[in-house]
Amino acid sequence: MTVRLGDTAPDFTQESTEGPIRFHEWLGDSWGVLFSHPKDFTPVCTTELGEVARLKPEFEKRNVKVIGLSVDPLSDHKGWASDIEETQGTALNFPLLADADRKVSDLYGMIHPNANDTLTVRSVFIIGPDKKVKLTITYPASTGRNFDEILRVIDSLQLTANYKVATPVNWEHGQDCIIVPAVSDAEADKAFPKGYKKLKPYLRITPQPNL
Ligand code: BEZ
Repeated sequence: MTVRLGDTAPDFTQESTEGPIRFHEWLGDSWGVLFSHPKDFTPVCTTELGEVARLKPEFEKRNVKVIGLSVDPLSDHKGWASDIEETQGTALNFPLLADADRKVSDLYGMIHPNANDTLTVRSVFIIGPDKKVKLTITYPASTGRNFDEILRVIDSLQLTANYKVATPVNWEHGQDCIIVPAVSDAEADKAFPKGYKKLKPYLRITPQPNL
């Protein structure tokens, strides 16, 4: 199955390191990050999970719940958790789905058979409080993700959900934004009291509106 932007994130019930998870119920009114990694007891995945545990306060600040997945059984996840704590200096503090029956991996298209026909790739799904998919990213097994980038994207998604702006290349929280083309200059004059610079009719730059 292909999960595309704007789709309702498929719901599921699956075992995890924190007990059975009913996904939509578990998300509640929060944003969510669902991410897969290829396999337990592998080096890159070990560093990724340690980093996500370290960044948990940053996700919480943004009202985001994080949940990992691999197609390994719960017994493996539990054994691996102590390795993550030992080597990365942070204990797992978010649930890891034990998707040994590939229920969730198949629902979300996390197995790419021409890359590997049994293991999940490094997928990321960001889900809004309306349960719609806001972002998807896919990395190969050999490349660890940059979770600071995931946080940066969440900042952009949360801002652009509430204001008629988009964020330019390499934007980070606090930097200037772009007024979306659908907003007329007359509307922009009212909606952006800090003003804006009009570099072109379609390129209007304004300070981040929620600061
Ligand atoms: C890793 O997490 O280190 C890894 C997993 C599968 C293939 C290659 C690397």
